[in-house]
Amino acid sequence: MNILILGSGGREHALIWKLAQSSKPLKLFAAPGNAGTASAAINLPVDPLDFAAVKSAVISNKIQMVIVGPEAPLVEGISDFFEADPELSSVNVIGPGKQGAMLEGSKDFAKGFMTRHKIPTAAYATFTADRRAEAAEFLYKLDPPYVLKADGLAAGKGVLIISDYQETIRELDAILGGRFGDAGKKVVIEQYLSGIELSVFIITDGISYKILPEAKDYKRIGEGDTGKNTGGMGAVSPVPFATPAFMKKVEEKIIIPTVAGLRKEGIDYCGFIFFGLMNVGGEPFVIEYNARLGDPESEVVMPRLESDLFDLLDGVACRNLMDRTLVIRADTAVTVMMISGGYPDNYRKGFEITGTDKITESIVFHAGTKISDGRLVTSGGRVLAVTSAGGTMPEALEKSYRSVPKIHFEGAGYRKDIGFDLKATKE
Ligand code: AMP
Ligand code: GLY
Repeated sequence: MNILILGSGGREHALIWKLAQSSKPLKLFAAPGNAGTASAAINLPVDPLDFAAVKSAVISNKIQMVIVGPEAPLVEGISDFFEADPELSSVNVIGPGKQGAMLEGSKDFAKGFMTRHKIPTAAYATFTADRRAEAAEFLYKLDPPYVLKADGLAAGKGVLIISDYQETIRELDAILGGRFGDAGKKVVIEQYLSGIELSVFIITDGISYKILPEAKDYKRIGEGDTGKNTGGMGAVSPVPFATPAFMKKVEEKIIIPTVAGLRKEGIDYCGFIFFGLMNVGGEPFVIEYNARLGDPESEVVMPRLESDLFDLLDGVACRNLMDRTLVIRADTAVTVMMISGGYPDNYRKGFEITGTDKITESIVFHAGTKISDGRLVTSGGRVLAVTSAGGTMPEALEKSYRSVPKIHFEGAGYRKDIGFDLKATKE
């Protein structure tokens, strides 16, 4: 079967790496992919948001399944585009339609959905510019820190957490005034939840679901979780505090009502759901939904799947996921992201990367790389995710931290403390 993976990051490389191990004969394509995906797939120079170009690539390469990596094509309706086109309607798209993708594409929709289905989440209210005075009053009644969220997709920059009331009001005005364009026409203000975060993923065919390995992402640029937010600087799986008792609560209070809620609302959801959760004193709350897998979480989730990923995706496509088996490896996987100097602000691209061929005890997933004049060069802020497996988290971390210094490019940086907050916890 010919399969196309849309996207160009470490998540897509991890998906392709896993699919390449399938027992089924698969021919893999990536659009646009990166230098890493090219090792197991054919990269096509196609922008995932250019649906007409995706269509021609699908037809000319006889693609039968499309896996959508990032959120933007989902929120823009790529699944609906395939379904509506007679030439494409037999192609299986792994990823929800526009309505299902609203779980990620509209924070106001997601909060309303959780309220309708009694899914635990922070208390909130949504405001538009004409209700600015009410928004200020609502904020005044909350205890700091204040949480402001632009309703739409804002490239990961749409969530602000601020301690000072006056500053919060200034930021509220900036968002309602158009800082994030249409994404900020509505602002969600919510109660601050204090706890420890984790990411839980499911794959669903709209009827049943399977829970994939959970992961913890390290979002801040600086050690000790300080400094600016990034796409993610590293991840670990499993998460020691995600005990069977905690995961039972996640399944009963969050996963089951979410899948049932989608069905009740007539939303046919085939794909991944990423639950961004906060563990507040042992109780799970949903911080956010995403309509896709996480990055860099996928770089630890994929290596922990014992099962054939294609079999699960085929179960989604055939709507019989219930009959497929998911086996998860007991060992720990960690990933350390190597970034280009300046990230998450301005950074340069095009630095030559050397040393990846010297890595023997880790998997090097490519996040922002390309081949230029026959050389491997950086082409993004997050460059490589260096993943290792081990019997324990410290063992896996040691492998990644031995591998990372063997890889070189100008301005390379990485966090040396991935997993730091989990080490004291019982494994
Ligand atoms: P993102 O939506 O990925 O940009 O991330 C926003 C981050 O803000 C989350 O990962 C949390 O760390 C934090 N956050 C969002 N909502 C809340 C909340 N209600 N209480 C505490 N922290 C939050
Ligand atoms: N690592 C967080 C995300 O993929 O959104």
